[in-house]
Amino acid sequence: MKRYFILCSFVMAPLLLAAQQVTLNPYNYSIDKYLEINSAAVASAHPLASKAGVLIMQQGGNAVDAAIATQLALAVVFPEAGNLGGGGFMVARLKNGSNISIDYRETAPGKAHRDMYLDANGEAQTRKSLDGHLAAGVPGTVAGLFAAHAHARLPFAKLLAPAILLAEKGYVITAAEAAGLNRKREDFLRLNTLPTAFVKNEPWKKGDTLVQKELANTLKLIAAKGMKGFYEGPTAEKIVAEMKRGGGIISANDLKNYRAKVRQPILFDFAGYNILTMPLPSSGGIGIQQMLGMVEKYPLQEWGFHSAKSVQVMIEAERRAYADRALYLGDQDFVKVPVKKITDKKYIEERMQSFTPGIASESKNISAGNIAPESTETTHLCVIDKEGNAVSVTTTLNGSYGCRVVAAGFILNNEMDDFSVKPGTPNLYGLVGAEANAIAPGKKMLSCMTPTIVLKNNKPILITGTPGGSTIITSVFQTLLNDLVFKLDASHSVNAPKFHHQWLPDQVTVERDFPDSTAQALEKMGYKIVKGGSIGRTELIKVHANGKIEAVGDKRGDDSVAGF
Ligand code: DON
Repeated sequence: MKRYFILCSFVMAPLLLAAQQVTLNPYNYSIDKYLEINSAAVASAHPLASKAGVLIMQQGGNAVDAAIATQLALAVVFPEAGNLGGGGFMVARLKNGSNISIDYRETAPGKAHRDMYLDANGEAQTRKSLDGHLAAGVPGTVAGLFAAHAHARLPFAKLLAPAILLAEKGYVITAAEAAGLNRKREDFLRLNTLPTAFVKNEPWKKGDTLVQKELANTLKLIAAKGMKGFYEGPTAEKIVAEMKRGGGIISANDLKNYRAKVRQPILFDFAGYNILTMPLPSSGGIGIQQMLGMVEKYPLQEWGFHSAKSVQVMIEAERRAYADRALYLGDQDFVKVPVKKITDKKYIEERMQSFTPGIASESKNISAGNIAPESTETTHLCVIDKEGNAVSVTTTLNGSYGCRVVAAGFILNNEMDDFSVKPGTPNLYGLVGAEANAIAPGKKMLSCMTPTIVLKNNKPILITGTPGGSTIITSVFQTLLNDLVFKLDASHSVNAPKFHHQWLPDQVTVERDFPDSTAQALEKMGYKIVKGGSIGRTELIKVHANGKIEAVGDKRGDDSVAGF
């Protein structure tokens, strides 16, 4: 009880902050797309979450504290992707020069097996890996945030305080959130065995207040008991009970045994910069290493931003990297992945030998590269603090609102669909995979999430990442090129129209505002161009040599930045 009151005083403190400080008012807030400041910044998918991170820095926290608080706040104010019931990756560069990556990707439950989504005829039943209890992997987010906390400064309970406030008192939802909740109303009703906070009698509308009391209680249990407040005790019991009622397979042991993993991040050189990014089980780091490596020798800047010549080279790099992804990549703790070979500079250069300028390659002729056997709705947030610590986090439930099953107040992921449920059967994002990404108990499904930090002279200069399923890797690839090679300003690097090729299907998806003249030139070369919805929702923090910091939230969503 005493602990609860201490927590409450943390919770209410943000509302009483002095005028020059960022305030967290859940009932009245604005979306800020761009900020130029000098000390510290957060960019995330929601204004309240960005503000929560900044508040924590103003209370003495560093960038890791802020990243933890921002992600916890997103779990409340951005239920479609911010989460307790999903997983993610953190990449950080600390002021002492250390590079960190933390893998808190979900795992397949102990009772999962290779063919669990195939019917009696061996056909893939992909709805089962997307909808409802059987689609959920064992959540990793809470374990990941506790692993990250080793590099933080403030008590974990303090980092939970803004999230608890937002869950308990409620917050006013945006038009986009109202629409999202309304779209999934029938799913929430059909897929849950108990009532949830996400359904009310009338449709949600902009300005409504979403209160999540049960989620607040779960967050308080974590504040009181640490990781055990989630992976054991009442929260775990509620998850397991919901699984039993709904035909899911996550067990008490799966939860109790979940551990985040600290991994060696990928670090490679590109055009005089050092790129720090996420290793397997994300395919994103390897993907951008391959793509940037494939385009490095071409004079893209001279050819021009969005010129048909530049875009063609980038498309062909994307095609080849995604072909390698499909065949070779999977969880290295379970399968041998020839990482060294496929990230070797010579191998990467040779991949472009089959490229002919002015003529589209065809995916049926481009398979994964030959190598000799070796001895093998998501959301992003970026933080920089005043000491120069930089953190980049991408976290996900997979589809929007995950599997739509709610336990202990939070939504569970549908990450099982990121496995290759059957070789060659496309997942939600049209990605195909092979044996390397087959399901096995305890294994992690391959991801595209690409939290990335660019260093110059050993200092972070760019922090970026995005959601977008299969388009994540290309969005990060293009955002990096936009800044580092095409020299666009920070806002344009994020908001300029993007394009995407993922090997299969053999087509280029372009955003609606992609220049028609370039699309037509590409069509003449033989590319199939498909106009699609938005690609990515990228966050970017740019740190200039003179100390100026620019923070950009993508125009494609409610993304918002805060700082001081
Ligand atoms: O880990 C992955 O690659 C996917 N589960 C990400 C899904 C995603 O980005 C959805 N958001 N738009």
